[in-house]
Amino acid sequence: MFARRAAWDLSRNPLSLAVEARRARGAEVVDLTDANPTRAGLLAGGEALARALAEVARDTAVRRYEPDPRGPRAAREAIARYHARGGREIDPERVVLTAGTSEGYAHLFRLLADPGQRVLVPRPGYPLFDFLAGLEGVETRSYPLVRRGGGFRIELDALAREAADPRVRALLAVHAHNPTGAFVHVDDAHALRALCREHGLALVSDEVFAESALEPAAEEERLASLLDPRDDAPLHFVLSGASKLLALPQLKLSWIVVAGAPALRDEAAARLEAIADTYLSVSPVLAACLPALLEARPAIEAQLRTRVRANRDELAKQVAATPCAELLPVEAGFAAILELGDPDGTAPDEEALALACVERAGVLAHPGFFFDFEDDGRARLVVSLLAEPEPFAAAARALLAVAAEACAS
Ligand SMILES: Cc1ncc(COP(=O)(O)O)c(C=O)c1O
Repeated sequence: MFARRAAWDLSRNPLSLAVEARRARGAEVVDLTDANPTRAGLLAGGEALARALAEVARDTAVRRYEPDPRGPRAAREAIARYHARGGREIDPERVVLTAGTSEGYAHLFRLLADPGQRVLVPRPGYPLFDFLAGLEGVETRSYPLVRRGGGFRIELDALAREAADPRVRALLAVHAHNPTGAFVHVDDAHALRALCREHGLALVSDEVFAESALEPAAEEERLASLLDPRDDAPLHFVLSGASKLLALPQLKLSWIVVAGAPALRDEAAARLEAIADTYLSVSPVLAACLPALLEARPAIEAQLRTRVRANRDELAKQVAATPCAELLPVEAGFAAILELGDPDGTAPDEEALALACVERAGVLAHPGFFFDFEDDGRARLVVSLLAEPEPFAAAARALLAVAAEACAS
């Protein structure tokens, strides 16, 4: 009856069943996988949105519908100003708004790959890529991010082997990466562009976490964006959006910036406009809020950074007192990765550990396999750092106690 692209296994996984069973007994489960800032008291974005909506409501222009497939010009100009940092010039004509980043990916897969063709995605990574590509009939192939020095880096040799496959049409990079919090380093960015040029691939950089560095850094130290203003750059699409950048998932507003060699990028922007025109999914009323919201970005970011730093510091303190646990270093993002196991290499089973955390501590964390971490015998739990500090500290304590017991047994 149903198409193969929709033939998912919809049965509940053991972890969600355990959460449901515990809640059915009336016991609490603290959800440390929740990455929704609006449920964690992070409301600077929401307050800016309320002000922007009030302003938009006073504008008589909202009474008419004058659709522009790329999104309203004023919103695209504000996005171009945001991306112009570091001396880049962005033409608002090369900005296309979408209803969320997921829709941005869908548009790009439609634009770049025919059914059966491939896109390269980082592993570990954001588990939605397989679904987004699969719904467009496109296959994903992964390239590894490996732990090196103070964080995760792209395994360039493995990536180069995958990129040489003629079925591959695009290379996706996440800057900063979720959940490892790693930025694409300057020399790796050069290597990605060189691979794209060599094999005629498009570069797609997901930069929704670009402003989430724990420590702000100058552009010379780390790239603010993978956008390369030079005209001989490969075809490049930058994705960003309100859900992470402005802590406003409820706005459902994201965008694609098209860059690269002029002839190709202008044609790509025109074709992307035709795709967007087919759906016209972005509300011009909500898009009208964007200029004011991007102005409010510094205050929103400051609130996010303060919260993430406080929870990370608390977690680091607790982990330091837990013999079998390590908190992996990150440059950015809203997640923390805990590695659990003895120095001699024995580690608890990841799924059993995550289940024990729900059943015995009432705390839900993502097991590492959810993000497709390499199966190297280590156990990993990934937690969101957005929760309110007090419940976060208590949940982390309970989770680490269960982990310490699991390591000892
Ligand atoms: C890598 C990455 N990109 C984008 C998003 C956000 O997508 P959306 O704008 O559809 O909420 C997420 C959310 O977790 C993510 O991890």
